[in-house]
Amino acid sequence: MVYRKRLNSENISFVICEMNLICYQRRADHSENRWSGQQKPDWMLGDGLSFSKRLIEARKQMLSGVRSVASTQPNALQLHSLRPMRIIIEHDPESASNRAAEIISSLVQQRPSCVLGLATGSTPLGIYQKLIARHQNHKLDFANVTTFNLDEYVGLGPGDPQSYRFFMQENLFNHINIPPENTHVPDGRALDFDSYSIQYEKSIQEAGGIDLQVLGVGGDGHIAFNEPGSSLGSRTRLKTLTSETVKDNARFFDDIENVPRLAVTVGVGTILESRKCLLVAFGEHKARAISQAVEGPVTAQVTASALQLHPDVTVILDQAAACHLQRKAYYAEVEESHRLLEK
Ligand code: GLP
Repeated sequence: MVYRKRLNSENISFVICEMNLICYQRRADHSENRWSGQQKPDWMLGDGLSFSKRLIEARKQMLSGVRSVASTQPNALQLHSLRPMRIIIEHDPESASNRAAEIISSLVQQRPSCVLGLATGSTPLGIYQKLIARHQNHKLDFANVTTFNLDEYVGLGPGDPQSYRFFMQENLFNHINIPPENTHVPDGRALDFDSYSIQYEKSIQEAGGIDLQVLGVGGDGHIAFNEPGSSLGSRTRLKTLTSETVKDNARFFDDIENVPRLAVTVGVGTILESRKCLLVAFGEHKARAISQAVEGPVTAQVTASALQLHPDVTVILDQAAACHLQRKAYYAEVEESHRLLEK
């Protein structure tokens, strides 16, 4: 999508396309001057700001201009074309986890009272280890952070080593300075799941909504426990797990028979309301789900594909998880533009 807008001066206009911003100056004789990348037009010098910072500023102005054209409460679809999914392909899970931990840490530094949406599974483990290290070595402060987890198995209490609450305590919460009352994991032993689910959604809203939602993806393309066929507008509720998910997750249990068949999970709609999503996947066994989620049609059969409707998604992959993507070279080019603009 290309946006064109005149700014500042009658004969200067900006064109924004993906993350690239190009400036034009039209002369009276209709010939054109054009700047992009690191070139410095004279009119942009002199105020101490680097050219790339000016580009970022101009881009922000462009975006706010475009936003003001939309309704005052733009929904995800209206904003979608403003920020295409950012696909970051790192060499291995280690560097990918580092990248994800960097994004989370900078949010916590910039907004100490931010609300994080957290996920379980093997994928985020490395990210949590890096957050713990940043807390221990660099005093990354979680004292005012609030967290909401995506899901929990029905029937498992917090003391059950297979419960997601237990997982979060062991792998993150017990090692950082987050107050226990700030951490929320759905209760797998709620007495009335209908009212509990409504309450969970309300708690997210009362906390101000989720600033950054961390997501893994199931082999069948599910996010949280939103199995294929889940409504893309779904909210927190009970969900029956597919046999594929039960099989995938059996590795954490002694016996496949002990894997719960039901889970309480936030919905796809709940996830789409977060301000930013960070989808992380490693390994070739995730490659099909990732290519469907990123390059396939938006479909309830692959609930991760709903992220294409979200205005601010970053996908961090290792090479193996990215191996089925058709447009890898293109994502690398866009990423290069991002890096230039962020310098
Ligand atoms: C479960 C969780 C998901 C997670 C998925 C992948 O189904 N509910 O939130 O993304 O597992 O787990 P892993 O990271 O172990 O592959």
